[in-house]
Amino acid sequence: MHVDGMKRRHFLTLAALSSVAAACGADSPADAVRPAGKPAFRTRLRIPPLLEPKAGKDGVRRFDLTMQRGRTAILPGALAGTWGFNGSFLGPTIRASRGDRVRMAVTNRLQEASTVHWHGLRLPAEMDGGPHQTIEPGATWTPHWTIDQPAATSWYHPHPHGRTATHTYRGLAGMFIIDDDRPTGLPERYGVDDIPLILQDKRFAPDGSPAGDPLKGTFGILGDHMLVNGTYGPFLEVTTERVRFRVLNGSNARMYHLSFADRRGFHVVGNDQGLLAAPVPVDRISLTPGERVEIVAAFAAGEQVLLRTLSGSDDIDEGDFDLLKIVAAPRLAASPPLPARLADTAPITAPPGARVRRFRLNGHDAINGKEMDLSRIDEVVPAGATEIWEIENTVYAHNFHIHEVALQVLDVDGEKPPAYASGHKDTVYVPPKSTVRLAVRFGRFTDPATPYMYHCHILRHEDSGMMGQFVIVRPGTEDRTPRTIAAHHM
Ligand code: C2O
Ligand code: CU
Ligand code: CU
Repeated sequence: MHVDGMKRRHFLTLAALSSVAAACGADSPADAVRPAGKPAFRTRLRIPPLLEPKAGKDGVRRFDLTMQRGRTAILPGALAGTWGFNGSFLGPTIRASRGDRVRMAVTNRLQEASTVHWHGLRLPAEMDGGPHQTIEPGATWTPHWTIDQPAATSWYHPHPHGRTATHTYRGLAGMFIIDDDRPTGLPERYGVDDIPLILQDKRFAPDGSPAGDPLKGTFGILGDHMLVNGTYGPFLEVTTERVRFRVLNGSNARMYHLSFADRRGFHVVGNDQGLLAAPVPVDRISLTPGERVEIVAAFAAGEQVLLRTLSGSDDIDEGDFDLLKIVAAPRLAASPPLPARLADTAPITAPPGARVRRFRLNGHDAINGKEMDLSRIDEVVPAGATEIWEIENTVYAHNFHIHEVALQVLDVDGEKPPAYASGHKDTVYVPPKSTVRLAVRFGRFTDPATPYMYHCHILRHEDSGMMGQFVIVRPGTEDRTPRTIAAHHM
């Protein structure tokens, strides 16, 4: 059954690919492996603009976002229907510092309800932007909180139940950078030596708009065109010896195995929830949807090198694709040496006797045999707890994201994760037929009536029900906490 599904998917993919190739005049439409042709890497990488906050007399920094429809020429010469924040595709980068009081005004100018979730942010459940914080068409939602977490690369995207895959695929996503006041010694000039890279794969209709059904097949969409910050076939000119890249996997389903074409080494300096204690040398890293990684790479004057993703064996990582051409200027400005220590990030350890919760991922539409129900509270967690969550995956590839927490991978089938992925995270890969154990540190905002989510971040799975809800409550009140809530169905 599963095998048949996979075969059918391959067949459909090839068929879809050749029509796209014909439609966009690819170099070699006969090449069935990469019918879209190798992009020329002649388009300058778009850098999402920083969103300027308005500072009120009260000191609160106000950020305005508008979800809107528009037209974008993602493929050259084809102006196509897309969605974006404050523009036609993707969104601006939000940047805020620890201690900032922020207030977002998110206006929905789409023709359907949506939500905006701050993925990776530590905040009260009402401000989280999950499926309960619906923004109706024409309405404005104004969450506010105080930024209080270590420097990190996070992001924001819609989270309407059953529609997240579609809304995100059409272009609603942006980066959210958090700074703290500790000097890191890392490159940090946005757009100069500190570069956001939002990785997304798409298929395109003949008119150039994102095509395909993100809710079909085992995993939804695996695209044949790779976009970085919405740019197809991009190049980036670098002007410094060392460059920091904040890489976000903003794809619906695709897992990337990233390396440079010449297999040069680079350093991982941060995971989802912040900097590692020290840089970790690598020459290849993997990233599943929703995960972020910060890396620092070194370049020599005048050289060119491609950043690429290579196939793996887990279905969501099929295909070798070049993603970005990096062109080093003829003269490079000196960069400070990579610091030996980055942050005092300590391992997350669960106390002896910590509560263990088990979650079973079976198929693609349920956790522990239960499909997501907006009115059911699945787990009640005491504020400030550190627990062990065991995620057992019985079949094909999944990953697992928990809102509001910092977590660390203890082991995958008993084996420690690679050093580069041992930092503080909020989203982790759960390979086929494996069990991942996590040490999860929960926050201190309590609200027995407003849940946070945990789910597979393959959006096709999330939307079809592989998601659950937890509330954080005052310790000692767990037993009194109601297990059902009023759900706003959209
Ligand atoms: Cu990035 Cu609940 O999601
Ligand atoms: Cu999230
Ligand atoms: Cu999944």
